[in-house]
Amino acid sequence: MSTVTFLQEFTRNWKTVGAVAPSSPALAERMMQSSEVSKARHILELGPGTGAFTAAIQDSMPKDSSYLGIEINTIFASQLQTRFPKMPFTVSGAQEFDFVSYLKDREPIDVIVSGLPWTAFPRSLQEAILGNVLPHLAPNGRFATFAYYGFHQLPSGQRFRDLLHQKLTGVETSRVVWANLPPAIVYVGRM
Ligand SMILES: C[S@@+](CC[C@H](N)C(=O)[O-])C[C@H]1O[C@@H](n2cnc3c(N)ncnc32)[C@H](O)[C@@H]1O
Repeated sequence: MSTVTFLQEFTRNWKTVGAVAPSSPALAERMMQSSEVSKARHILELGPGTGAFTAAIQDSMPKDSSYLGIEINTIFASQLQTRFPKMPFTVSGAQEFDFVSYLKDREPIDVIVSGLPWTAFPRSLQEAILGNVLPHLAPNGRFATFAYYGFHQLPSGQRFRDLLHQKLTGVETSRVVWANLPPAIVYVGRM
């Protein structure tokens, strides 16, 4: 079901969906390990889509930790809310979400798991999203994201990697996760 919805939304909104299929369990597992969701206090997920990473987050996060998913697509957000009734989602672009109000009475965000299609974004949107989100990541907090292998060498992919190196410390690139369509690598860095 989620693959069908994903393809439908890709044909309607290919610029924001940016992928033809949801991420695989193998990529979700690599993202959980890289971001250390199992040690998190407050997790932010960007672009949960049909919930490939959300399901892994739900399984890995400590019972007393918090979560928020920010998804721009209303159809994905409504299906996510049905599939994960105990997890909160908000419909917003990550570049415009009001973190100051959201974090007023909450613990700082210490893990960000991103499913956003960075390579499909223009530089201005890459910068706007990182500029809105990263100032709210706690010191030593972890930011994990992925790129499709090969696409990461396109100019927009290299530009995004350069931005990560500018804004985070100790950015690491994982081995290739071949069991994903297309194969992918994971980047993780700290605030
Ligand atoms: C490549 S899909 C990944 C979905 C899922 N995380 C996965 O790995 O299968 C990208 C997702 O990011 C969402 N998205 C794109 N631009 C966004 C933005 N500016 N803010 C929040 N979500 C966005 C899309 O609607 C889509 O659900």
